[in-house]
Amino acid sequence: MKYGHFDDSAREYVITRPDTPLPWINYLGCEAYFGLISNTAGGYSFYKDARLRRLTRYRYNNAPYDMGGRYIYLRDNADHKFWSPSWMPVRSDLDEYTCRHGMGYTIIRSVSHRIEAETRYFVPIGENLEIWELTLTNKRAKTADISAFSAVEFCLWDALDDSTNFQRNFSTGQVELVDEVIYHKTEYRERRDHFAYFACSEKLVGFDTQREAFLGAYRGWDSPAAVEAGESSNSMANGWQPIGAHHIKVQLMAGESRKIVFILGYHENPRDAKFDPPGSQTINKKTVKPIIAKYTQLKNVDAAFIALHDYWTELLGKLQVNTPDEHTNRMVNIWNAYQCMITFNISRSASYFESGIGRGMGFRDSNQDLLGFVHMIPERARERILDLAATLLKNGGAFHQYQPLTKRGNNDVGSGFNDDPAWLVLAVAAYLKETGDWEILEMPVQYENEAGSETPLYEHLQRSLQYTLDRLGPNELPLIGRADWNDCLNLNCFSDTPGQSFQTTTNKDGTVAESVFIAGLFVLVAKEMVAIAGHKADSGEAAKMQLAAAQMEATVWKSGWDGGWFRRAYDDFGHVLGSKENTEGQIFIEPQGICIWAGLGVEDGRAQKALDSVAKYLATPHGIVLQQPAFSRYYLHLGEISSYPPGYKENAGIFCHTNPWIMIAETKVGRGDQAFDYYMRINPSKREGISELHKCEPYVYPQMIAGKDAPAHGEAKNSWLSGTAAMNFVAITQAILGIQPQYDGLEIKPIIPSGWQGFDVVRYFRGVRYEISVSRKGTGNKVLLEVDGKPISGTIIPLPARDVKILKVIAYIG
Ligand code: BGC
Ligand code: NOJ
Repeated sequence: MKYGHFDDSAREYVITRPDTPLPWINYLGCEAYFGLISNTAGGYSFYKDARLRRLTRYRYNNAPYDMGGRYIYLRDNADHKFWSPSWMPVRSDLDEYTCRHGMGYTIIRSVSHRIEAETRYFVPIGENLEIWELTLTNKRAKTADISAFSAVEFCLWDALDDSTNFQRNFSTGQVELVDEVIYHKTEYRERRDHFAYFACSEKLVGFDTQREAFLGAYRGWDSPAAVEAGESSNSMANGWQPIGAHHIKVQLMAGESRKIVFILGYHENPRDAKFDPPGSQTINKKTVKPIIAKYTQLKNVDAAFIALHDYWTELLGKLQVNTPDEHTNRMVNIWNAYQCMITFNISRSASYFESGIGRGMGFRDSNQDLLGFVHMIPERARERILDLAATLLKNGGAFHQYQPLTKRGNNDVGSGFNDDPAWLVLAVAAYLKETGDWEILEMPVQYENEAGSETPLYEHLQRSLQYTLDRLGPNELPLIGRADWNDCLNLNCFSDTPGQSFQTTTNKDGTVAESVFIAGLFVLVAKEMVAIAGHKADSGEAAKMQLAAAQMEATVWKSGWDGGWFRRAYDDFGHVLGSKENTEGQIFIEPQGICIWAGLGVEDGRAQKALDSVAKYLATPHGIVLQQPAFSRYYLHLGEISSYPPGYKENAGIFCHTNPWIMIAETKVGRGDQAFDYYMRINPSKREGISELHKCEPYVYPQMIAGKDAPAHGEAKNSWLSGTAAMNFVAITQAILGIQPQYDGLEIKPIIPSGWQGFDVVRYFRGVRYEISVSRKGTGNKVLLEVDGKPISGTIIPLPARDVKILKVIAYIG
């Protein structure tokens, strides 16, 4: 069952009923000011850091589930009836309803009481504010007398403190009101130089800034007393809960439309000019007034909306495909690329499953995310790489997370996730292939953010790889440390104490438990290092890494191969995991994906064998589960993985991040049909028709779909912020469609379904527009390339002369 449809030409998903199985959200903002917005206008906003600079309040896991947001209430002043044009929070029936989630904006339109209301929410490029442009249209035959109320609840900045420290916070709230603008200035009197403001383009007939005055005692957002009575109380918040609620009255003749603009924004003043007049406690508003004046004018709102549209056209235009499959086209051209940008902006901090107060920027996560956006924003990818590398430890290890505001490694979580450093090499490799910016390797970068510790970035890569080699276990496989990619495989944490962290409590000495996954990852990235060192003419490093990769490969065959698939790990007792010897956890997806991606077994049939085992034991119609058989109980020596009920998360859930590794592996052995089949099983657009089961948004990947051991097999969770976005983007565009940036040119090497006759691609690569047309001539995967009409040998198109701006490429496959 569907709850809407895709509008690909507008790059929108159109939700046609408000009661979606879960709130289906979108993101506003792409630089510093961000908002989450659901299809019923729920959500919140923040500036840069979802925990420390939260503008509006949101209560997670509420009942109803999605309560609190950017609400507008309409009231017919003749019959006193009121409703929410976004359905929530009043939830009275609407005659028409659509929510269009687009690239950086959301438009909610409805008709009720023969009044049409359409609200366009977006953040203009370059501004720290969001616009809600409300268009009211009277569809009646006679004049309508309507009250409109806006409402937001302010957060007292630090979201964690805001939801816990009531003994203080109920006394600190402060606001100002001047003209049509409500200023939220809690803590501005002391150490904050920032405030929030909520402006309106119309003259107010009233306002409220104290929540209980607006709602009425013991009432909720579904029936505010002020809206019911049609009268605000002009309350000024003193402590308690500051809100912003404007009240305006609009007379609309039959058929008449009126636009009203609300602006919610964040503003900082210079510390020495905070107050006006100086010495007072009143906000200096001179710096913000021009901004408010600009966006209360409709023509500027329109221009900003067009600029936002152009921004996304430019980004998405870097890679556009036209294949025989609409789900592929839609995801690659629009939604998957968009989701990759959202993971760049938000990392894992704020979604409807991530509360914005917990996790900083993951080291592993950020490096992997980069693979999905580097072609769109190479300069920002460069900056991200340098930030990440500066948190690297001197011994080549990595802080597992760092804070976005300070860019410093996070001591609470620390380091010791032994796969982390290797991902930096993969990210830098992807960046170099995309941009050819070899100079980045010479950039001086700190370790542990310590001044004076700088070395060229290149050395960071060397130390990252050395980190693995310095930590080999009894079988010469890499030691796992706290965990590898699978954060929940905690082989050094024997935890029997409630509330203890599985990941940061390490009570074993860590010299026994080993990871086959890290071994495979090492081979993959060591091979990249061979190429990178070769480019720098550092033959010593290239030879060293060549040898190290070969040795690691040999070790995997010796201790990491189980006969039918790759093993997963050795635990603290030296017992194997992910082997037919185990009764539970016999086969895991991760080592099959990463080892074959690294090339292991591709030549001798063992890769095919492992992939056949994946198909036999792990694949389901809803995607490939993480392992089988699921752990039926908690195992002290395995950790968090066995804490989840069977079928969920790392305990045999369909952990979508890992599925594209198998797609990539399938293309390594030339099986395009199988790779594409797996791609389709978790493609959100393809799953749109089972939305009542899938539950999450049909336009973005979730982190997890419940596996076959779970009662709700096929039900998704944790949408939006997952490495799944980048990895699927890589799998479909680089492995299956085969458009792969390489160090010396763009490679075209499709491994597509046998039924496809071909496809077209426009790809910008190092400033050149490649117009690629692939056409099938036979049943195999052999590639013959013609560039500007001339056949070339091999699959890599050499970089053209500087003045060439367009290349026409024909690829024959068969
Ligand atoms: C989750 C993992 C996640 C980790 C982050 C665990 O509870 O299952 O998916 O990576 O927390 O700390
Ligand atoms: C989510 C984390 O963000 C990611 O880094 C990790 O690899 C997966 N969970 C698997 O545990």
